[in-house]
Amino acid sequence: MKINEEIEYQKEFIDKVKKLNEGKKLTYNILTMGCQLNENDSEKLCGMIEKMGYTKIEESKQADLAVMNTCCVRENAEDRLFGKLGELKKAKEEKGTIIAIGGCMMQEKHIQEKIRKSYPYTDIIFGTHTLHKFPEDLYNAIKEKKRIEDVIDIDGKVYENIPVKRNDNLKASVTIMYGCNNFCSYCIVPYVRGRERSRKPENIIEEVKCLANKGYKEITLLGQNVNSYNGGENYNFANLLKDVNKIEGIERIRFVSPHPKDFTEDVIKAIKECSKICKIIHLPLQSGSTKVLKEMNRKYTKEQYLELAQKIKKEIPEIVFSTDIIVGFPGETEEDFEDTLDVVRKINYEQVYMFIYSRRVGTPGDKMENQIPEETKHKRFNRLKSLVEEQTENNSEKYVGTKQKILVEGKSKNNDEMLTGRTETNKVVIFEGNKDLIGKVIEIEIVRNAIWYLQGEINARNSLKIE
Ligand code: SAH
Ligand code: SF4
Ligand code: F3S
Repeated sequence: MKINEEIEYQKEFIDKVKKLNEGKKLTYNILTMGCQLNENDSEKLCGMIEKMGYTKIEESKQADLAVMNTCCVRENAEDRLFGKLGELKKAKEEKGTIIAIGGCMMQEKHIQEKIRKSYPYTDIIFGTHTLHKFPEDLYNAIKEKKRIEDVIDIDGKVYENIPVKRNDNLKASVTIMYGCNNFCSYCIVPYVRGRERSRKPENIIEEVKCLANKGYKEITLLGQNVNSYNGGENYNFANLLKDVNKIEGIERIRFVSPHPKDFTEDVIKAIKECSKICKIIHLPLQSGSTKVLKEMNRKYTKEQYLELAQKIKKEIPEIVFSTDIIVGFPGETEEDFEDTLDVVRKINYEQVYMFIYSRRVGTPGDKMENQIPEETKHKRFNRLKSLVEEQTENNSEKYVGTKQKILVEGKSKNNDEMLTGRTETNKVVIFEGNKDLIGKVIEIEIVRNAIWYLQGEINARNSLKIE
């Protein structure tokens, strides 16, 4: 079947399930456990599910359809899933809740087996390459009362036009590529998401234009390694950034994640030249030790990473960085860990996502013999955390007295009189203002650092709309 035909074929199942459900007022709940790509997949699942006649509710135990979109990048996700499945057993017995589990963890053979054996009441298991077939799988589960296992190991195609139900009405994520070719030795993602497949530039542009027409202001371009995006001959990630920057109505562009080894000059130039691209770059470090980086198969050294950051900063002085760091990779010595702290001190990140190394079945890291004891990993993690907290606190303080462009997102959760928004660097700002400002980018003066957020004031001259 051609790609378009496959999606059309699924639309027939959407109609069939809708018919089966007619007049029944059915509900669904979805639990998303993974990264932003997983979130975006969940938005597609919600799009399909709502078209089939289900309404979203908050509590999975009350729902007629309970969907879990899983992640397996670290171990804790497994405990969470199995806990949830235990909870749902009763709901299944009492009201026949349909239980569907999808996402990255379902691509793992040992997990499939565990579910078969210990959680046989699960109705549908689907993988990352078969997400678009959810209507067909659900139809078969309902109609034929069969247990469905729909997981394949072959890379999924790049499907367009799957219905989407978005979580937000100002900020939207747009997946630009699927899969990963890098095989960092700690990471499970390439095994569960397959090889890199890029969407066509025209389809991405069309989606962003559509979002702009619907009033979206901020777009995040997603991929496991966005700067290896391949949109065809002579069309790379820098071209895509420039084209998205031209789309009227969009005010802000973000992207995650680029890989330091592929950060080319033309991407730096595009970030510099495109006014809508937020001047914060997520540049995953993982480790500051050249030796550990080599073992991790990251393909850059400590020095190359620092040089890259310096080069970007020289071109775009206002840029700041965020990063991901893994603590306790096999063989990491005290000296190696000091190298990580050293890079953190030198770069002074705006934000650091810190992870304790977690062994993943099937990855080279899991087979390494020199695993680090849990206690050492935790101690190092806490040392890194203290340094990061100290830095982020100092960085927040630097905002006081500056003017910042804020995308006004809505009323503050805790105080109806106040508005909330975010700076380009993703800091939350709370300020007093008219709710007509929601959805606009305005300039705000930061007057106080309240640790969890910044307090701002709209400039007295009130001239502040920078649309
Ligand atoms: N493709 C992206 C993100 C991948 S997953 C990138 O390369 O940056 C998000 C983060 O999870 C990674 O950056 C890494 O820091 C962390 N991670 C991945 N595998 C891990 C593991 N086995 N243990 C601990 N953290 C891990
Ligand atoms: Fe995992 Fe590395 Fe690919 Fe990121 S680049 S998804 S860390 S293998
Ligand atoms: Fe994302 Fe987790 Fe899969 S990080 S790609 S949901 S393994």
